[in-house]
Amino acid sequence: MNIREYTDDDLDAVFRLRRVAFNSKERPERLVRPGSRGLVAELDGQVAGVLGIGEYAQFYGGAAVPMGGIGGVAVDGATRGRGVANALLDASLNLMREHGQALSVLYATVPALYRGRGWERAGVLERVELPMDRLLSVPRPTERIPSRPARESDLSALHECYLEVARTVDGMADRRPPRFDVAEVLEMDLVSVLPGPGGLRGYLTAQREPGGGDLGRLKVFDLVALDAEAQLTLLASLASWAGTLEAVDLRITDPATLGLLASTPLRYSVQTATWMLRVVDLPAAVAARGWPNPADVAVDLEVVDPHAPWHAGRQRLVAENGAVRVEPGGTGAVRLHARALGPWFSGAQNTHALRRAGLLEGDPADAVALDRLVDGAGVPRLADFF
Ligand SMILES: CC(C)(COP(=O)(O)OP(=O)(O)OC[C@H]1O[C@@H](n2cnc3c(N)ncnc32)[C@H](O)[C@@H]1OP(=O)(O)O)[C@@H](O)C(=O)NCCC(=O)NCCS
Repeated sequence: MNIREYTDDDLDAVFRLRRVAFNSKERPERLVRPGSRGLVAELDGQVAGVLGIGEYAQFYGGAAVPMGGIGGVAVDGATRGRGVANALLDASLNLMREHGQALSVLYATVPALYRGRGWERAGVLERVELPMDRLLSVPRPTERIPSRPARESDLSALHECYLEVARTVDGMADRRPPRFDVAEVLEMDLVSVLPGPGGLRGYLTAQREPGGGDLGRLKVFDLVALDAEAQLTLLASLASWAGTLEAVDLRITDPATLGLLASTPLRYSVQTATWMLRVVDLPAAVAARGWPNPADVAVDLEVVDPHAPWHAGRQRLVAENGAVRVEPGGTGAVRLHARALGPWFSGAQNTHALRRAGLLEGDPADAVALDRLVDGAGVPRLADFF
């Protein structure tokens, strides 16, 4: 089997694989775009499998950690079960490490495949379905903040407003270019901004879509605001659709929105997509992450990770003078399996849960020091799908 980076010459072969695997209809014009790369596997000179990698970065402890977002993994139906996907994943780990992507995330339809290579559930993307009568019962804002449509000159303030929230939620993407083009929001059906002193106080992006009966749906992508009055103003603006809609689909970009909704006596449906995280390069990921007030401590680790030999074996996690690093050596007092690294790093699971899942062994006191370092504040989230 030969694995190599794909080029635009592979477009036909890759589109064929993805059309058959995912029923994709639209043939992309190009395969290689700024902010993305990918791999193909060849068997007997024929392209038999593909895997795409997008360039993202996720906030952890307030600092953005470069992350490879894996998607579009497909293997020819005639060559499945022969290790093609495994070989693509192994090669992707090398490629991501080479490009400084210390983490990798994917939304799995076949979790078993990715678990075998060290990815594990580590956070959520949530959408809430809000029937209009329920939305009408959200408390009204006391302050009147006028909204207006977004203009091109708002784009950097809009991104800054998003970042102000995203930086404080572990897992959120920083939406850096070239993978993201903030100007694309202007193509949406509804982009409403709340001007504030020196920038935006909040904004809302939404698209009118079919589904949910004759009236269709309003699909809200971002409802982002820097304070409760601005959040309530944006929620109240959604209530104005009560005449023509039965429900609104709201993507949760900020967990604070859930708090405002939950303060009303309502039940609502939440659709959750779980993402899986893999630490590709532990020393690089630890160096890039933010650490909320780390106390001086050293934890000796034994990392069990045959697919990422560069960080496998005995490693010491050292917190000293407010900085945290990983260096080789130590006694290996806490044994961490590859699949423990992602949920620990994101804060999705503490070492007690990882131990019960069979992913961590060794000294409980040392293990708890790992939890204190991460200091997970709430459920790790992403608001972007790939
Ligand atoms: C999923 C898919 C990529 C697997 O490709 P493949 O080349 O057959 O996979 P491999 O032979 O390398 O198998 C890798 C491992 O995953 C496991 N696996 C593969 N498909 C699986 C499935 N559908 N359910 C559970 N486990 C699966 C294999 O048992 C193997 O486990 P092992 O390493 O413990 O032996 C392929 O079936 C496919 O293209 N499916 C349609 C598209 C799709 O679902 N893609 C995934 C998008 S997230």
